Formats: sequence, structure tokens, C-alpha cells
Amino acid sequence: MSLAPVRLTAEEYREVADLARRQFGLELGEGKREMVASRLAKQMRELNFPTFREYRAHVANDRTGEALTALIDALTTNHTNFFREPAHFDFLRQTIVPEFASRGPLRVWCAASSTGEEPYSIALTLREAMGTEARAKIVATDISTRVLAIAERGMYRAERFGGEPDPWLKRYLQRGQGQAEGWYRMRPEVRAMIEFSRLNLIERLPDLGRFAAIFCRNVMIYFSRETQELVVRQLTECLEPGGYLLVGHSESLTGVRHSLEPVRPAVYRKPGRRT
Ligand SMILES: C[S@@+](CC[C@H](N)C(=O)[O-])C[C@H]1O[C@@H](n2cnc3c(N)ncnc32)[C@H](O)[C@@H]1O
Repeated sequence: MSLAPVRLTAEEYREVADLARRQFGLELGEGKREMVASRLAKQMRELNFPTFREYRAHVANDRTGEALTALIDALTTNHTNFFREPAHFDFLRQTIVPEFASRGPLRVWCAASSTGEEPYSIALTLREAMGTEARAKIVATDISTRVLAIAERGMYRAERFGGEPDPWLKRYLQRGQGQAEGWYRMRPEVRAMIEFSRLNLIERLPDLGRFAAIFCRNVMIYFSRETQELVVRQLTECLEPGGYLLVGHSESLTGVRHSLEPVRPAVYRKPGRRT
């Protein structure tokens, strides 16, 4: 059955935008209407809903949370890369590890981990900097269960590493064979460094303990200033004194009220020293 393209009325669009703001903190804005309509149309085709009204009822009545997850996947981008914005990984190796590694297990939170490239880049950086005996733990969270499932599997096509992975990287990868030819999987000891779970950054956070560093990159760009302030306040509470918040380079905290010290572009430090 072929479905006509979705035309969202102004009211329907407002409804989707309100839902996205309430549930996920996302600001869709008027300019995103075409994009939202076309992504919803794809969603509805996949799920076989001929009208927006039926799709809306499905989302409203779904108690599993899966329909909302699918909706957020349709509305946001999960774009990510290994070692994206590499200056942050240099900073992790050169500053955060020396400051925190001797004080007990080093804890890092990757707060919008998407399909896993970012937390694995953190794990590999820590492994390289601290050796195989690395006492380090990474908590990786995202709102989308779909991307978390991919992340947890830790299997990527060779192209994700830019073709043939560098020799140093290969030490941490298992090469796929047979049907998995062309794929690489993170070795079990790397996967074991990371704990994945679903977490919505705009909700009250569970007790995750304190972290030496929090990577919260390329997600706050979708939030309003008020929501950014709420998120930064919550993240700050989860940092050790002297711990670091790393945000995407295109989303500086200028104009956002916070209690952190700017250190360098897209890097902020919680005042104080760990006792
Ligand atoms: C563009 S990706 C960024 C991935 C990675 N941090 C990076 O910089 O490469 C944004 C991620 O934020 C997640 N996200 C969006 N809203 C969220 C929320 N309210 N709480 C937690 N994660 C959210 C999306 O599911 C998506 O995986």
C-alpha cells in the first residue's frame, strides 16, 4: 500500500513540537516543519499508519516507551564518529588522566553516547594512556534504546574507522570473518570498561556517583537555554570537585548560567579540589 505524503497542519505540528519539548527537551522551532513531516512520514510508512491521527494515538497509548523512542530517533540525529573533535581526547589523555588516575578508579560519563563511537573512543584513549591495568569505568547513556543496542554490541563496519583501522587500533578490535567480513568488533576487555543504560538528560537524574569527566557533546544544541541550564546544573552535581565537563565545540555555554570555570574551548571545570 502506498501512502500519501504526510501534511502536518499547523496544530498537528505544534502538537509534535510540544511533545518533543516536554518529553525530550528538544526545540523543533517553526523552521523544522518540513523535516519533521518527512521523518514522521517515513516512521508512519514503516509502522503502517495511514494517517497522522492514528500514529498520534499509537504514540499516546504505547506504554512500553518504544513508540516515543522511535519518535525521538525520527526527530533527532544520531550522527557521531570515532574520535570526533579530537582535541577533547588529547585533553583527556594529557590533563584528566594525570590529574585523576592516581586517586582511585577514574570514572567518565558519556551522556549522549549515540551508537557508541564516543564512549569507545574514551575507553581506547584511557587504555592507551593508562595501560592494560587501567582502573577506569565509563558510564554511557542515551535516551534512545535503538542506538544503545548498537553501542552495546560494539560492532562497526571498517568504513567507520576510515577503512583499514590503524595498527594501534587493531589491538583493540576483533576482525569479523565469514558473514561478518568487513566488520570489526571491540574486544571484550574494551566493552567491559563501559556500562550502557538509557537516561533522559532532562529528567531528574538517578544517582550515578561522581565523575572526573563528563562528555555531553552535540546534544544540548537541540535544547532551549532554560533546558541547557537545567542539564548543566544536573551534570555539575555529578562532577568531582576539579572535574571536567566537555561539550560540543559548536555549543559553548555562553549565555547559559552555570558555576563552572571555562578552561579552553568547549571544556569547563568544576571549582574545588577533591579531598
Ligand atoms: C548528535 S548525537 C551526539 C553523539 C555524540 N555525543 C557525539 O558528539 O558524537 C545526539 C544524541 O543525543 C541523544 N539525545 C537527544 N535528546 C536526549 C535527551 N533528552 N537525553 C539523552 N540523550 C538525548 C540522541 O538520541 C543522540 O544519540
